[in-house]
Amino acid sequence: QWGDEGKGKIIDFYVNKFDYDLVIRGQGGSNAGHTLILEDNQKIVLRLLPTGIVNPRSLCIIGQGTVIDPSSLVKEIEQIIKLKIPNLEISNRRLLISERAHLTMPWHRLYDRQNNLIGTTGNGIGPTYAAKALREGLRIGDFVHHPKVAFDKMQELKTAYQKNFTVPEVLQEFEKMYSEYQQAIQTLIKTYGTLVTDTHPIVQNYLQQQKNILLEGAQGVLLDLEVGTYPFVTSSNTTFSGLCAGAGVPPKKVDKAIGVFKAYTTRVGSGPFPTEDNSEYGQKIQDLGQEFGSVTGRKRRCGHLDLVLLKYACDLCGFDQLIMTKFDILENFDEMKICHTYEDNMKYPPLYLERAVPQYRHFANPKNKSENIIRYIEEYLGVKIEYLSLGPKRD
Ligand code: IMP
Repeated sequence: QWGDEGKGKIIDFYVNKFDYDLVIRGQGGSNAGHTLILEDNQKIVLRLLPTGIVNPRSLCIIGQGTVIDPSSLVKEIEQIIKLKIPNLEISNRRLLISERAHLTMPWHRLYDRQNNLIGTTGNGIGPTYAAKALREGLRIGDFVHHPKVAFDKMQELKTAYQKNFTVPEVLQEFEKMYSEYQQAIQTLIKTYGTLVTDTHPIVQNYLQQQKNILLEGAQGVLLDLEVGTYPFVTSSNTTFSGLCAGAGVPPKKVDKAIGVFKAYTTRVGSGPFPTEDNSEYGQKIQDLGQEFGSVTGRKRRCGHLDLVLLKYACDLCGFDQLIMTKFDILENFDEMKICHTYEDNMKYPPLYLERAVPQYRHFANPKNKSENIIRYIEEYLGVKIEYLSLGPKRD
């Protein structure tokens, strides 16, 4: 619902189990943090690289709907190269980047940090998508195909935007960020420029050949710009259809949509959260579940499973199956609470979700009642829970 359900682990599990030919990230940027624990117990956090990157057989595409922070991407690629995963040489082109993906500019990051009213991850995601909608965005393909024009436009925009930063220290930080940024984009183009391409024919070719393709979502449905808890949302469409648009795959060609949810609920950043539990119970979930943001390290707010929101997410995405993660954390409790309606028999999230008063069903001894609980959730949602994921490791 609000991200952090354990998609990284699940996607990694799927990529390994089904050996996907192609894995595409379609929206968001380095605000995401997909944590994987590899077979040798090595933990990695992927932010923009598709999770398929750890499988030597999968082609990976950073799709047109994503936004790219050059320095973050360069760092991430370098980190993954160090892992010595086979078949990751640049010349093998196992990673491709859509030339249409927009780039985060230094003023986007600074603006995001200076005007952070809703507790964003501070990566400049919102301002980058805003620039795209304002038709002043710069795409990675612009820098690869017409570097002179792109750098000139960037300089022009910089001159316009630096007027917004009047405090001398902020202006200084801006200048520093700008010069670091220029270097990062040079490195990105020089070292990895050959990976930037028109990914459309490649995706279409894979579809025509009926190859195995996995689209990797980021964030959660309740963070969606359209249907989420606006304004406490991210800036991309995090629903199934949003992911298809960003990946360049028609929804009709997808034969299975899989939703991942946690046995309890968490949220990072501000915004309404009806089942939030500030008592010892919530604190215990936070401790046992190690609920810290993988990108920002922030403590995640914790609460109970909210079927009203989960049903809303299922309805909007048309999930064929679900995966529930972290039920093992709740096995340490004497009771599990599941919200089934809001006061006044409300079964859908209202416009002002902060007004919703959750009504609970209580399950004693969740450890011994897991089957009952699973049946209850499945019946409520009308979707089957295909897997139960326990623990952080792939197996
Ligand atoms: P932004 O995406 O950095 O603009 O942040 C907007 C909101 O989305 C904030 O509440 C963030 O905490 C939240 N958010 C963004 N990405 C993620 C994610 O991957 N997991 C959980 N929350 C996220």
